[in-house]
Amino acid sequence: MSSESNEVNEENSRQWLTDLWLQVTNPEEERVYYDVTAYKYEEVTSNLIWRAPELCMKGILNYEQKSGVRIPRDGLAIDIGAGTGLSGQALREIVGFTGRIDALEPSTNMFAIAEPKGIYTKYFNELLLEDKETSVPGDTYDLAFSVGVFSDRSAKSSCLADVVRMVKPGGHVGVICVKRHWDGDLELVAKRLEEEGKIDIKHVEVFHSYMKDVESVSFVLQKK
Ligand SMILES: C[S@@+](CC[C@H](N)C(=O)[O-])C[C@H]1O[C@@H](n2cnc3c(N)ncnc32)[C@H](O)[C@@H]1O
Repeated sequence: MSSESNEVNEENSRQWLTDLWLQVTNPEEERVYYDVTAYKYEEVTSNLIWRAPELCMKGILNYEQKSGVRIPRDGLAIDIGAGTGLSGQALREIVGFTGRIDALEPSTNMFAIAEPKGIYTKYFNELLLEDKETSVPGDTYDLAFSVGVFSDRSAKSSCLADVVRMVKPGGHVGVICVKRHWDGDLELVAKRLEEEGKIDIKHVEVFHSYMKDVESVSFVLQKK
């Protein structure tokens, strides 16, 4: 028997993305999809030229440079949808964050790959859901960040309120998502939170190369 079926190549990496986008319709299905494909996630994303972690951090650094604000590097952060740890690693390597990073990740198989990397302290094995707050404590983190998690399939736009809840007053939320989702309704949700006096939208930046051919938006909010 040939072992070719286990090979991760460019074609089946694109198929992985197409299946995620077209077949997954709700949070539990998405959790299972990542659980089943966790073993090949880093190879797949390398084939898809996954630059989202780096670009989320670029957005945060550009915000700091523009505003003069500095997120404390020795503070407390949480990675929402931490996956195999590529986003947490980017916070450490690109932003130079030395403080504690906690992780929220619904797929235990994804987090089993992140765990030995030693990036994270506390693990919340939960989904962001529209109708239920997570058990992550409120008013706690200097920074909540999320790379490639918000979508219309699983972590819906209204879940942004739960992420804002986790952050200390004056703390920040940094997110990167595909541009069509920001344009769809994530921007509206962020603007509503701003109108309600809960946050200020501090920085919105478009990047053209989130992964191959996919436009994205990296944004930073500050909790009031
Ligand atoms: C594209 S991966 C990104 C992983 C990591 N942040 C990175 O940059 O490589 C999306 C991650 O979000 C997680 N996820 C999916 N739905 C979620 C939800 N509703 N709440 C929290 N995380 C979710 C998935 O399990 C997966 O690990």
